[in-house]
Amino acid sequence: MTLPNTLVERDLAVLWHPCAQMRDYRDFPPLEIVGAQGCHLHLADGSTLIDAMSSWWCKSLGHRHPRLTAALHAQADAFEHVLLANTTSQLVVRFCERLLAVAGGRFAKVFLAGDGSTGIEVALKLAVQFQAQTGQPQRTRFAHLQHGYHGETIATMSVSDCAEYRAPFAALCFPATVLTGLPYRSGPHDPQWDDASAEWPAIERQLSDVAPHLAGIIVEPVLQGAGGMRLYSPDLLRRLRTWSEANGVLLLADEVATGCGRLGAWLGCHLAGIEPDIAVLSKGLTGGYLPLAATLTSQRIYDAFDGEWHAGRAFLHSNTYSGNPLAVAVADAALSVFHAEDIFGQVARRGPALREGLAAIGSPFLRSVRGCGMMAAADLTQSDGSPWPRARRMGLRVYRAAIRHGALLRNLGDTVYLLPPLIADDAVIARLLAITAAAVEEACHGGD
Ligand SMILES: Cc1ncc(COP(=O)(O)O)c(C=O)c1O
Repeated sequence: MTLPNTLVERDLAVLWHPCAQMRDYRDFPPLEIVGAQGCHLHLADGSTLIDAMSSWWCKSLGHRHPRLTAALHAQADAFEHVLLANTTSQLVVRFCERLLAVAGGRFAKVFLAGDGSTGIEVALKLAVQFQAQTGQPQRTRFAHLQHGYHGETIATMSVSDCAEYRAPFAALCFPATVLTGLPYRSGPHDPQWDDASAEWPAIERQLSDVAPHLAGIIVEPVLQGAGGMRLYSPDLLRRLRTWSEANGVLLLADEVATGCGRLGAWLGCHLAGIEPDIAVLSKGLTGGYLPLAATLTSQRIYDAFDGEWHAGRAFLHSNTYSGNPLAVAVADAALSVFHAEDIFGQVARRGPALREGLAAIGSPFLRSVRGCGMMAAADLTQSDGSPWPRARRMGLRVYRAAIRHGALLRNLGDTVYLLPPLIADDAVIARLLAITAAAVEEACHGGD
């Protein structure tokens, strides 16, 4: 028996990588990272890649931001983890006060959990228990949007519409209502961007059918990430807000990917000028340093859980690392950086260049170009506009070509998307666009 020798051999001997068919690594091994700075990753072979998808969308402030790193060190020197039940600290209280202030509106309480999926589970559980404790025990069902994605746990998969991820576990998922016929748009420049009046009546009919049993409607505001980087009209959010309020249904905003500036505001819901009943933030909340989710609720929801212990109204959800001080310290520093470095101003100034640049490539292989905030996407097609056969795995080919050209451009199937750190400057954006053009050309001409 020969023992594994190289790092890649040792990796493949022991590691099961996330979201991968491990066999793919045999002819294109995992990249060995030795460092990272700002928008860039440094590899063991001496090459540098742009982190074009912010390491699964979380590196809002780039890699190794000095203020976040300093906050992490300082907190590690003070105390690194203490359970949040029965304890408090200046740090965690200050952070929650500041988070509520930036989220605005009717948010009054913060529940801290470990990662995005768990934060969404918290939101779903809060909604069902809220309804039961306000005299609506029959309201246990959720409506969600087609192409929506809310995480990897069984409950979050139950309210997601990504067949590929969910299919093996369909038997475990609870039934939910998927709302179809969404008002998809290409971005704020689209003349129909802020008008969902054409699609709304059909969506409303789907809601009416289940209205008495709905605990909540869960949405990714405006941008649906894992379901294909699709953008829908903010007007849909306004209509859902009005409808849910009129029908005793809670509106749950999954801001895990859309919050913290990705769309140019603290919450994606702010693009529609609405306030959900519950919002969940994660990913960019810590600048992508450490896992942390914050589930924000209104006072009205919180009050429904109040009572004597024996009344059994408490929210008995616990995660070991709820409010982990290292994560909170970095998130608290990130709040300061968002303000001090005018991150939203940067997104407003530079974000449109991503979509415009992607459209300007003018490739016959890139269709349905769309963009909002610091995100742009397009679908890979054959030159006549028809989809590539799935077996051609064109997205994977573009990914591999982009690595050779200098960017980690991890596509979603045949959807190419650019989602760099919010601090990406003009030079990074220009280079990323040039790499995208070259990678698409190389992969698609090779495969046409
Ligand atoms: C919209 C949305 N919700 C929830 C999640 C789950 O977050 P996590 O991967 O931190 O569990 C994700 C992850 O991509 C997401 O995009």
